[in-house]
Amino acid sequence: MTGPLALTLALSLGASNQATPTPAPIEASLTVKAGEPSVKINKNIYGHFAEHLGRLIYEGIWVGEDSKIPNTRGIRNDVVAALKNLKVPVLRWPGGCFADEYHWKNGIGPRAERPGIYNTHWGGVVENNHFGTHEFMDLVEQIGTEAYVSGNVGSGTVQEMQEWVEYMTSPATSPMANLRRRNGREEPWKVPYFAVGNETWGCGGNMRAEYYADLFLQYGTFVKNYRGNTVQKIASGSSDENYRWTDVLMNAAAKRMQGLSLHYYTLPTGNWQKKGSATEFDEDAWHATLKRALRMDEFITKHSAVMDKYDPEKKVGLVVDEWGTWYDVEPGTNPGFLYQQSTIRDAITAALTLNIFHRHADRVTMANLAQTINVLQAVILTDKEKMILTPTYHVFEMFKVHQDARLVPTELTTPDYRRGDAAVPAVSSSASIDATGKLHISLVNLDAAKPARISVALSGHAAKTITGRVLTAPSINSHNTFEKPDVVKPASFTTFSRTPQGLSVELPARSVVVLALEP
Ligand code: AHR
Repeated sequence: MTGPLALTLALSLGASNQATPTPAPIEASLTVKAGEPSVKINKNIYGHFAEHLGRLIYEGIWVGEDSKIPNTRGIRNDVVAALKNLKVPVLRWPGGCFADEYHWKNGIGPRAERPGIYNTHWGGVVENNHFGTHEFMDLVEQIGTEAYVSGNVGSGTVQEMQEWVEYMTSPATSPMANLRRRNGREEPWKVPYFAVGNETWGCGGNMRAEYYADLFLQYGTFVKNYRGNTVQKIASGSSDENYRWTDVLMNAAAKRMQGLSLHYYTLPTGNWQKKGSATEFDEDAWHATLKRALRMDEFITKHSAVMDKYDPEKKVGLVVDEWGTWYDVEPGTNPGFLYQQSTIRDAITAALTLNIFHRHADRVTMANLAQTINVLQAVILTDKEKMILTPTYHVFEMFKVHQDARLVPTELTTPDYRRGDAAVPAVSSSASIDATGKLHISLVNLDAAKPARISVALSGHAAKTITGRVLTAPSINSHNTFEKPDVVKPASFTTFSRTPQGLSVELPARSVVVLALEP
């Protein structure tokens, strides 16, 4: 047997099958100039996104105070512990498309009196509003993260948005701050990031760029900084290659925004009608998915170039507040719930994307993976009281060492990994140095079948001790399930050795490695 089927079968048999010979490694080289650190990698690049969608908020986070699932004030403890361990720097809420039909006053006050509403975007279910502003802020405090709140431009008023910001952040004696106090919260919360609308070119109002630019200026004027809180205003930006949208927004309003958003999702097929399965795929689909994920680099580069025209000093951040893989939903689940499994392929796409964000750290100031729990490229899946961590979770956990570290210049020479006429670089990398002088190098081997040998030339660092962690899997579609939660998890990495120039590192096929070098 030859061809893709044979390879898929061989990969499924896994590394333990002694009969399958290991292919010769591909050879790559990497220069790491640790003595020349540049821009800081904003920790917010490791942000997450939680929308009122499917089983994310209800079950994934909120189980209610009377639930048998261990919780603190209704918020499940296992999920909070897992997110704390990730050092989630910022959490975006309540949408997404949901944000532009969310009326925040429905989600405050005694829960029994909150009105149920119809979630028109996601699954046609009743949203009982039991998880509202106070519950979200409690979650933020329990995780130890920062709030990124999305305001309603599509179906809300300027007054409604102004009052929400006042409710959350005003320390004064004022109508909304007093309402907050009557609902049990004396002190204002911090809201450092506030989005003025979401996907206003689509579900957020189907607007023209010029029209939204005016609305951004109008609504944004009333998003106030109350004493003790400074809000960064994020304008609703484009998706994919809509560079005109970025141009219009920057031209009209660059001086009034701190961030402009960008959304990009990776579909294996590129076809929204038939996106592809999360778990049943061959090496061609593996390759196509990674190739599409890598387009993030092109989009950031080109949107940044447009932003440079109006903001050469890069004061406005590019905020990639929705990104990740998007597959056909798991068979038998509500199509509106966007529930999908997550394999080692997702771990590889996450690592590739984070490496891209690092390299664009001068412009990308925040990114939010879609979405935290039970939706799209989730880091956590739950089934009632059970909880598992996905391969993507493990990448975020391994890469958290890059948060707020300074980017180190690297030069990578890698062969292509090819399928037919399509090619992607076989290896991806990035490096950073933290405040203690510790150097971290992130390496990804995209090749589904071949190991990669990388010769690293290191300068400007003592590398007194070197340790590593690796994430790989027996097959290209390996994933964790509630029955087998540890099929894909990080392990200690030892296949490296010192050389006169630095290091020789051998990555397994389809793997992510993070090396830690002590000063
Ligand atoms: O993440 C799911 C949806 O994708 C969001 O609600 C929307 O902003 C985007 O289209």
